[in-house]
Amino acid sequence: MNKKTVKDIGIKGKRVLMRVDFNVPMDKGIVTDDKRIRASLPTIQYVLEQNASLILMSHLGRPKGAGFEPDLSLKPAADALSKLLNKPVKVASDCIGPEVESMAKGLKPGEVLMLENVRFHKQEEKNDTEFAKKLASLGEVYVNDAFGSAHRAHASTEGVAKYLPAVSGFLMEQELEYLSKATMNPERPYVAILGGAKISDKIAVIENLLTKCDTLIVGGGMANTFLAAKGYNMAESLVEASSIETAKKILDNSTEKLLLPVDGVVGNKSDATAQTKVVDVDKVPAGYSMMDIGPKSIDKFSQVLKIAKLVVWNGPLGVFEDPRFSEGTFAIARLLASSGATTVIGGGDSASAVKKAGVAKQMSHVSTGGGASLEFLEGKILPGVAGLKDK
Ligand code: 3PG
Repeated sequence: MNKKTVKDIGIKGKRVLMRVDFNVPMDKGIVTDDKRIRASLPTIQYVLEQNASLILMSHLGRPKGAGFEPDLSLKPAADALSKLLNKPVKVASDCIGPEVESMAKGLKPGEVLMLENVRFHKQEEKNDTEFAKKLASLGEVYVNDAFGSAHRAHASTEGVAKYLPAVSGFLMEQELEYLSKATMNPERPYVAILGGAKISDKIAVIENLLTKCDTLIVGGGMANTFLAAKGYNMAESLVEASSIETAKKILDNSTEKLLLPVDGVVGNKSDATAQTKVVDVDKVPAGYSMMDIGPKSIDKFSQVLKIAKLVVWNGPLGVFEDPRFSEGTFAIARLLASSGATTVIGGGDSASAVKKAGVAKQMSHVSTGGGASLEFLEGKILPGVAGLKDK
């Protein structure tokens, strides 16, 4: 990507305004998964070691944009960060305004200030110029380490970069480095795995990856639409009727590259009492839906994955949250963990799946961005990256 990082500009003693993605799960004011906060620590620690002062901004959830909402305050994230850093993190009551300005400008070297949720102002998502200028006025340098929000052209992710020297943080750098392996000069054999419920959400990524990879494995709910396009009766399985024509076109153009499940685990109700069976894809019984890939598919997919040098995975292969339908996703996760290939896992559900399978640490890279990694794999230029200085 060749973007300058925080190491490429002088920040000694400066006020650094840094966008992080602290949009983390919380329960009753406690952060329940601090992966994204931990992921930003290398940049935060580097900035503090430079005797700079640090002003952090983030969004959390999707507030109405009409002022403070207690449930969506970033205070719990600031507390979690403070514990990880083992130092106080000040919390502002807003992200702009005279009080915030004096707090930001009064910071001493090595001090950290967390601004309140930028989405409490509707101008954030509108990428409003005046709002972006007000945010920018708080710092002397802008660092974007919020890969998870880089697909949003918002004031704190894109607008601010126009008014300050703008560089990437180390998390952003690492995300771009690994995800670029999927789209630029990939190691071969290169296998992409796509899963998740709907094909309609992933048509652009299927089309882009088919031009880059050697094999594309499709599983999860989205495989049903491909199987229906091939003429199989999928009974009660989730099939997107409106995408069948697109699926047919993709199949016609890429028969040798695209691998589909040959069997699956089906259930007749999505509750704990559901009866389950393993069936071939041409024998889905009436009243049943495909919930996971079956053992023959695991075996078929394993053959290509075993020899892959690069594997990029986005979207689970079944309803892995339910133990009766998790084996397909977990078996592939375990295989990748021991494969020796470079393994790049998209954020969101795929990240949760490898974590639940207990193998997240064995992957080369697990992205912190769900939507952002998907848009990157579609081949889009992410607005939060585009505005950063080139090397
Ligand atoms: C995410 O969790 O995907 C990012 O933080 C972006 O959040 P958003 O979808 O609400 O913009």
